Amino acid sequence: SSDNKIIIAIDGYSSSGKSSMARALASSIGYRYVDSGAMYRAVTLWGLRRGIVSDGTVDEEALIAALPDIAIDFQPIPGEGQHTLLCGEDVESEIRSLRVSDNVSQVAVIPAVRHHLVALQQQFGREKGIVMDGRDIGTTVFPDAEMKVFVDASAETRAHRRFLELQQKGMEATYEDVLANVKQRDHIDTTRAESPLTKASDAISLDNSDMTIAEQNEWLIELYNRILAAK
Ligand code: DC
Repeated sequence: SSDNKIIIAIDGYSSSGKSSMARALASSIGYRYVDSGAMYRAVTLWGLRRGIVSDGTVDEEALIAALPDIAIDFQPIPGEGQHTLLCGEDVESEIRSLRVSDNVSQVAVIPAVRHHLVALQQQFGREKGIVMDGRDIGTTVFPDAEMKVFVDASAETRAHRRFLELQQKGMEATYEDVLANVKQRDHIDTTRAESPLTKASDAISLDNSDMTIAEQNEWLIELYNRILAAK
C-alpha cells in the first residue's frame, strides 16, 4: 500500500552522479524519479531563448513575470527513464548543453524562481513513492523525507565524468572548461543566500568516487530496505 512508500531525497554537488543513482534506484524499487536540476535547467533554457538570460546575466523581473508561463513536466520514455518537457517540447538534450550549464546557477539563485519550483516539486511528492535529486531536497523541499542521501566526489572526478558524458553526446568542450564550470557551480551553489547546497543534518553521506554504478545502487537499496524495515 502507499503507506509503505516513502520520500527519498538525494542531494549533492553537480556531476556527482546523483541523477544516475536516483534514476536507477527509482527503477529498482518502482518509484517515480524527479530530476529537480532539470527544472532549473528548463527555466534557464526558456530565458536563454528569449534573451532574458545571457552570458551569466539574468533579467530577473522579466523572468519572474514569465514563471507562470514556463510549464515544466516529465514524460516517461520506455527503457530510457524520462525526458524533460518545456511547454510540451522535449528539451532533454538541450538542457544538458554547456550554454545552459554556464547560466543555470545564476537562475537558481533567484528566490522567486526557487519558491516556484520548490512548490512544483512538493506537488510531485504528494503521493510519496518518489526519488528526487537536487541540492536542497533534504533541507528545503522535503525536510521530512524518510531517506536522505548526500553524494560527494572530488571536483576532478566529477569533471572527468561530465567530460566523458559530453563527449559521448558529441558535444564540444575541453576538460579544462568542464572543470572550471564544475568549480564555478560548486561555488555559486554553496554560497547563495537562498537554500544553499548543504548536507541535511540527518542525511547519510556517500562518497562514490571509487564506486561502480552497480555498487552505488546496491548501497542505496540496502539503505532503503533498512529504513522500510525500521518504519
Ligand atoms: O543537478 P544539475 O547539475 O542538473 O543542476 C543544475 C543547476 O540547478 C545547478 O547549478 C544547481 C541548480 N539546482 C538547485 O539550485 N537546486 C536543485 N534542487 C537542483 C538544481
